[in-house]
Amino acid sequence: MNLVQSHTTVSLLEELRGKTEIASLRLLAEFFPNEVAFSSSLGYEDQVITDFILANDLPIRIFTLDTGRLFEETYKTLQRTNNRYDTKLEVIFPKHEAVEKLLNEKGPYSFYESVENRKECCFIRKVEPLNRALVGVKVWVTGIRAEQSNNRQSMERVEWDEAHGLFKFHPLLDWDFEQVKAYVKTHNIPYNPLHDKGFVSIGCAPCTRAIREGEDFRAGRWWWEDESKKECGLHSPQPAAADRPEGGLNTEA
Ligand code: ADX
Ligand code: SF4
Repeated sequence: MNLVQSHTTVSLLEELRGKTEIASLRLLAEFFPNEVAFSSSLGYEDQVITDFILANDLPIRIFTLDTGRLFEETYKTLQRTNNRYDTKLEVIFPKHEAVEKLLNEKGPYSFYESVENRKECCFIRKVEPLNRALVGVKVWVTGIRAEQSNNRQSMERVEWDEAHGLFKFHPLLDWDFEQVKAYVKTHNIPYNPLHDKGFVSIGCAPCTRAIREGEDFRAGRWWWEDESKKECGLHSPQPAAADRPEGGLNTEA
């Protein structure tokens, strides 16, 4: 029996019960050696998890998806993070042929034209690279928090992701925004300066704006779309790239 078969989401939830976030990450890295990976968008939450991992020498891979459309401030945060921890976070880039085809056929702002176009761009620049980054991974760590959206409120700290055939672990699921901010401050962790300008959830530059007092956390993401459509596909159940029909894009959220 391999390690994945010997664990279930229920048994993992039980093993992690009462443990700190750092102890939980350490335990998962022991259960699944070289098979735990953390995806960082370099936002507030993710910088906390990066600190958990790098300040404690946890054997967990950290990667970031560079969509090619990130804010300058996000690249600076990447550089400052590399400097702070004397490391180079792994960067995954989209396939250049797919990006070229998209730009040549639809131009640089096709995502504003329809939800379908927006999801096509997110698939090319985020979802397909993510699928590549997750090959061989058995536990995918994310910075998702329940408070971020209705959809995320029903998530568990440990979940089974059928599409990728792995467990997801959200160590900060129950943290609120103030806790995240306080942790970053107390530990003097480098963070994206856009957070000081009203940006809460930070994605690609053309698709993210600051939020106003009283707006919800994800109001600044794809603000021109309906609330119900606002997931880019990273965290929605859907077939991995290898299962897709040749050339076909599954653009369902
Ligand atoms: S998204 O689905 O809307 O883009 P969000 O920005 O809320 O996601 O981030 C949720 C989690 O998804 C992050 O904590 C991180 O684990 C992962 N994530 C989002 N964007 C990226 C990225 N560019 N690179 C790596 N991981 C990312
Ligand atoms: Fe493209 Fe916008 Fe999605 Fe980034 S967030 S991948 S620019 S549609």
